[in-house]
Amino acid sequence: MIFLGPVCFMEVSQREALLRQIEEEIRRCTRCRLHTGRTHAVPGEGRPDALVMFIGEAPGYYEDKQGRPFVGAAGRYLNSLLQKSGLRREDVFITNIVKCRPPNNRDPLPDEIRACSPFLDRQIEIVNPRVIVTLGRFALHHFFPGASISRVHGQPRWLGERLFFPMFHPAAGLYQPKWQPALEEDFRKLGELIRSLTTQEGVTTEEE
Ligand code: URA
Repeated sequence: MIFLGPVCFMEVSQREALLRQIEEEIRRCTRCRLHTGRTHAVPGEGRPDALVMFIGEAPGYYEDKQGRPFVGAAGRYLNSLLQKSGLRREDVFITNIVKCRPPNNRDPLPDEIRACSPFLDRQIEIVNPRVIVTLGRFALHHFFPGASISRVHGQPRWLGERLFFPMFHPAAGLYQPKWQPALEEDFRKLGELIRSLTTQEGVTTEEE
């Protein structure tokens, strides 16, 4: 039996309420300069008790317009990768390292990441996912500073009670097709990993 950390017995309704509270704080947040340019903050969305959490970089143009993560071109590619892996978007939780769009989609700056990441840390604590998929180097570096994404992508590793699965960012595959085979293979491996975690003896999902 694999040790998957302490089981969190928080009710789904309680998680939902806590996540709503964080969302409201994010929508009102003025902790960094990014709030001045936002149309909508993008707190994230998904199952409050998801087994898998995906963490991207920052909202882009369409995410800022709609207030939802991964709804533009990278989001459509993410949806197709999820489908190939056998995971359903409605079963996972999707969020970003920073919750407001950087101007012209530039990289988020270190002080913006520092200001925003306490929201992410609280979301992780509440959803309590067993598996965290980092999409791109900013999400990877939040947990593994300095790690090289081209070396570690597709290789799950434990950190505390969670299994981390680093991936390239879907936008990398979209704009540089040479990364697509790696992304597709990593998502296939992720699907297998999730199926093995949920069927192993002694490993149960929280609603069971
Ligand atoms: N890229 C990201 O990293 N996050 C989004 O929500 C959309 C595009």
